[in-house]
Amino acid sequence: MTNLNKAAITAVGGYVPETILDNAQLEKMVDTSNEWIVARTGINERRILSNPEKATSDMAAEAVKNLLASSGINPAEIECLILATSTPDKLLAPTAPVVCDKAGLTNAWGFDLNAACSGFLYALSVGSSLIESGRHKKVLVIGADAMSRIVDYTDRNTCILFGDGAGAVLLEPSADYGLQDFILKTDGAGSEFLSIAVGGSLNPFHEDTLQERQHFVRQDGKTVFKNAIAGMTGVCTEITDRNTLAAEDIDWVIPHQANIRIINAVADNLKMPMDKVKVNIQRYGNTTAATIPLCLWDFQADFKPGDKLLLTAFGAGFTFGSSYLVWGN
Ligand code: UT7
Repeated sequence: MTNLNKAAITAVGGYVPETILDNAQLEKMVDTSNEWIVARTGINERRILSNPEKATSDMAAEAVKNLLASSGINPAEIECLILATSTPDKLLAPTAPVVCDKAGLTNAWGFDLNAACSGFLYALSVGSSLIESGRHKKVLVIGADAMSRIVDYTDRNTCILFGDGAGAVLLEPSADYGLQDFILKTDGAGSEFLSIAVGGSLNPFHEDTLQERQHFVRQDGKTVFKNAIAGMTGVCTEITDRNTLAAEDIDWVIPHQANIRIINAVADNLKMPMDKVKVNIQRYGNTTAATIPLCLWDFQADFKPGDKLLLTAFGAGFTFGSSYLVWGN
């Protein structure tokens, strides 16, 4: 009997809102310039969920519907949905059940997972374990974030970076292909460098902190920048060494899209030519948990069965990780 002990990505879906926020518009909102943003980040524009009645669950549900439509999978077949997000619809209740409802996944249970920009990789690891254990045969893993809802559009340090979007993958058992390995790490000492100070159990909302705009994301960009390069380089080196892979054995690198200079530096450290590194930050900015699945969605036509993919992310927490994946199903 064939041993179907790996979890393969068998379908991909995505969604970005229609509204575009480009650098020229940001020039009118804060003291910045198109030249600075492009040179320092590689971002030209981002998508914004401009409809105030829509939320993260709507983008995630659209990504799921896109995946189901393109793969012909019946929504009732989905058994579990893991939603990686830092921008749930509400602090309570969880958003995953809302996504199941909106996407018509009548037989799925689901839960949210918050690991910021590394959330999709963490969720992929949990989802692949559910497949490998034999407990489930069809698991959806989503990365979705409505960053425009937590970004301060008077703070030029952060508002130029982030955008909104959602990407989804379906995991199914496979004998030959799929997720081979993960290295996932956390460093809680980095928590203060990228966070929202208020609104959680440590500092509940208060009218004073609202006036001080403390309910928005704040970041020490330089510290995060340095740690992101070191963190992603480290976990990528560790996973390639552990799987006896040289740089030339890797066909594609799918990095978290936070800053083109971070991506270039990690690729350089890994001696990976940039034509193997997938980049769409210029169009979407940093969509937090959605960057990696949106890259898989954008570039899936380039991946051939048997291609070796290296996924890596770094984010608030700090959280970081890498995954080695053999494409195909
Ligand atoms: O998803 C994971 C989490 N996030 C990240 O990985 C992001 C990590 N950090 C970064 O990408 C970069 O640190 C930033 C893009 C946020 C900032 O780039 P930087 O090269 O580290 O710039 P900086 O903070 O050192 O600022 C350089 C200068 C400063 O002016 P002075 O002090 O040299 O006069 C800033 O005030 O650029 C100024 N500046 C800006 N100027 C125009 C900062 N933001 C802007 C802006 N437009 N938007």
